[in-house]
Amino acid sequence: MGMNAPQRAPYGLYAEKLSGTAFTAPRAENQQSWLYRILPASAHAPFQQRESSTYNTNPENKPWEKIFHLPNQLRWDPFDLDETVDWVHSLHLVAGNGDPTAKAGLGYYIYAAGKDMDAHEAFYSADGDFLVVPQHGVLDIQTELGKLLVRPNEICVIPRGVRYRVTLPEGPVRGYILELYEGHFQLPELGPIGSNGLANARDFQAPIAYYDEDTDSDWTLLSKFAGHLYAAKQKHTPFDVVAWHGLYYPYKYDLGRFNVIGSISFDHPDPSIFTVLTAQTAHVGTAVADFVIFPPRWLVQEETFRPPWYHRNTMSEFMGLIGGQYDAKEGGGFQPAGASLHNVMSAHGPDAATHEKASNAELKPMKVGEGSMAFMFESCLMVGVTEWGLKKCAKVQEDYNAHVSGPF
Ligand SMILES: [Fe+2]
Repeated sequence: MGMNAPQRAPYGLYAEKLSGTAFTAPRAENQQSWLYRILPASAHAPFQQRESSTYNTNPENKPWEKIFHLPNQLRWDPFDLDETVDWVHSLHLVAGNGDPTAKAGLGYYIYAAGKDMDAHEAFYSADGDFLVVPQHGVLDIQTELGKLLVRPNEICVIPRGVRYRVTLPEGPVRGYILELYEGHFQLPELGPIGSNGLANARDFQAPIAYYDEDTDSDWTLLSKFAGHLYAAKQKHTPFDVVAWHGLYYPYKYDLGRFNVIGSISFDHPDPSIFTVLTAQTAHVGTAVADFVIFPPRWLVQEETFRPPWYHRNTMSEFMGLIGGQYDAKEGGGFQPAGASLHNVMSAHGPDAATHEKASNAELKPMKVGEGSMAFMFESCLMVGVTEWGLKKCAKVQEDYNAHVSGPF
């Protein structure tokens, strides 16, 4: 029978439901999975808060640590590697909006770690879904639902609540995370593009079940809950899911598989043409978060200023660079592992050198972005920058506005 919860599950396993949406969410949005495991996830001692004075990824709930909402263009030099910490302690909130306790908004993190999580530790965030964009190093992620190996130029999504452990098989890692406090990512609608193009569904990879048999050792379960860290002890591995099925699961995607679409006559489309994943608000077409990439691609438009136009956007734009040189910023200030933020209605555009070059370039077909991958987290929300992002990281470029704008 196609049952989810038999009276006695096979092999003495426990059937357990993992809900990613309200039970009654519309069918097209509903995300639930059934896990069949050696012991239930609930078999642990009570959580105790840990590192309460140092661990906080939700500074809006901490009045003495302000969030700064700024109209200026901001750009960061490459963020430092940090070999002294593990994944759990590598998360630095740079900017965000909203509040995970209200399941509203999002947070942008830089992660930099050099240590494996302890051999008997697992972690989950109750605050949101992690969209992880590695810039340096390899993440070996053992999740409850199976294993994911994620390298630069790939991304992964770890949904809220899924327990996992991160090890670093090739040493230090660094990258970007978008934590989505509300909703989930989905593929964008394709409209007139048709049934294929952009990120194709077939290229997303989900893990298959992988389990350990360990009911006899001391494990620590770590929870990021409202930005704070909690720990609970248990006497068995959390990685004991023997089988699962459903629609709520972690997954990865190779950005090299993105089918890039652009103009073959004149002008260039809005950057939404490069959307890999989107998380929509209740307003159709308006995203809490779009994940957009700028892969290597051909430009063939006639009589057109080919770089991104100068613009002001009602959406906020946070950009990062995985590798290479972004074709709209050739001045050298936007580097791999760095970032930029162009907030709501903050005017921006190509740097002066790029403008000069593109205005006079011979418009033959040309390939741009070879060996490069820039990305953007775009949000309908005005994002605020944290104390860490503005000051403590010491990476903000003080002269950025002068650099990009030319005379003023
Ligand atoms: Fe922009």
